[in-house]
Amino acid sequence: MDIDIETSSSRFLSTGNTEREFKQEERLRPTNFSEFIGQKRIIENIDVMVKSSNMREQAMDHALLSGPPGLGKTSLAMLIADALGTELHVVSGPAIEKKGDLAAILTNLGPRDVLFIDEIHRLHISVEEILYSAMEDFRLDIVIGQGPSARTMQIEVAPFTLIGATTRSGLLSNPLRDRFMAHLHFDFYNPSELASIIQNNSKKLEIELGDGAKLEMAKCSRGTPRIANRILRRVRDFALVEGNKVIDSGHVKKSLDLMDIDSSGLDRMDRKIIQVIKDYYKGGPVGIEALCATLAEDRSTIEDVYEPFLLKEGFILRTPRGREISDKAIRHIEEN
Ligand SMILES: Nc1ncnc2c1ncn2[C@@H]1O[C@H](COP(=O)(O)OP(=O)(O)O)[C@@H](O)[C@H]1O
Ligand SMILES: [Mg+2]
Repeated sequence: MDIDIETSSSRFLSTGNTEREFKQEERLRPTNFSEFIGQKRIIENIDVMVKSSNMREQAMDHALLSGPPGLGKTSLAMLIADALGTELHVVSGPAIEKKGDLAAILTNLGPRDVLFIDEIHRLHISVEEILYSAMEDFRLDIVIGQGPSARTMQIEVAPFTLIGATTRSGLLSNPLRDRFMAHLHFDFYNPSELASIIQNNSKKLEIELGDGAKLEMAKCSRGTPRIANRILRRVRDFALVEGNKVIDSGHVKKSLDLMDIDSSGLDRMDRKIIQVIKDYYKGGPVGIEALCATLAEDRSTIEDVYEPFLLKEGFILRTPRGREISDKAIRHIEEN
C-alpha cells in the first residue's frame, strides 16, 4: 500500500518530484495515445510527425513542448518514442554540466532515438551551443586544445529527434528555439477532460468512484492532471482508512479540506499570493520582484508554477506596472 503523506503546499505544486512520487507517477502515466486525454491540437501535430517519420524511416523533426508543470510533457515524449519504435533517453537540462557530458549522451544515441531534455531553458549556454550543429546536421563540432594550436574536430551522431520540454519557452535563446520545427504549447485541461483522466486512473488504482466525486476532484485540480492524480491518491487513502468501498463527494470534500485546497482548486500558496497583494500592496499593481520578496519565494516558482493558473482563471491580472488582483479574487478570499 502506498500512502502518500506530502502535505506542504509548496511541495504540492513544485516542479521537481520526489523519487517516491516519480514512481507513483509512472504507474499512472498514459501507456498509449488513446489514454492521453485532451490537448487535441498537439496530438494532431504529433500524429502527422510520427507517421511521416515512420514512412520516411528517418528521424522525426525536433519538437519543443512548453507549458506549466504536470500537463503531460514527459508523458507525451514517452508515447512519441514508443510510436516511433525507438528508444527514449531522458535528461534534465540543468544536470548537464559540461560539453563533454552532452557529447557523450549524443554519441550514444541510436538512429531515430528520441532525446528528451527536460527544463531545456536551464541548459548551460556552452552546453547549448553543442546542440546547434547536432540538431541541424547531426554533427558535433568539438574544439580541441587552446589558442593558436586549437583545432575543431567533427564527430557524426546518429540522426535523432530532440524533444525539449520547458515551463517557459520565452526563456529559450533564439538560436535554440529556431532549431525546433514544431512548437507545441500545452494548455490547462477542462474539468471534463480531467474527469476522464481521473476515471482511467481510478481503474489503475482499483478504486470505485461516484460521478459526483469525479467531477468534484476534476473541478479542484487546477486544470492539471498531475494534481488530479495527487488528489485521487489522497482521496483513495482517505476512503481506505475509513473503510468505504465507493468514493463519494463527501470523501472528496474532506480530503480537499485536509489538503487545504478550496472550491476553486486554489491551495494555500495561491491564496497567500492573493492575500499578500490585497493586504500589503492594496490590491496592486506590484512588481514581481517585490511580490516574491514578500512571499519569500523563488521568482521562477511563482511565475512558472503558481501564476499561470491564477492568470488563466482571472484571479490575477498582469499590467505594465505589475500584478493586480481582480474583484473575483477579492470575493474569493472573503468567501473562503
Ligand atoms: N493528457 C493526459 N492524459 C492522461 N494523463 C495525463 C495527461 N497528461 C498528464 N497526465 C498525468 O499527469 C502526470 C504528470 O504528467 P507529466 O507528463 O509528468 O507532466 P509534465 O512533464 O508536463 O510535468 C502523468 O503521470 C500522467 O498520469
Ligand atoms: Mg515532466
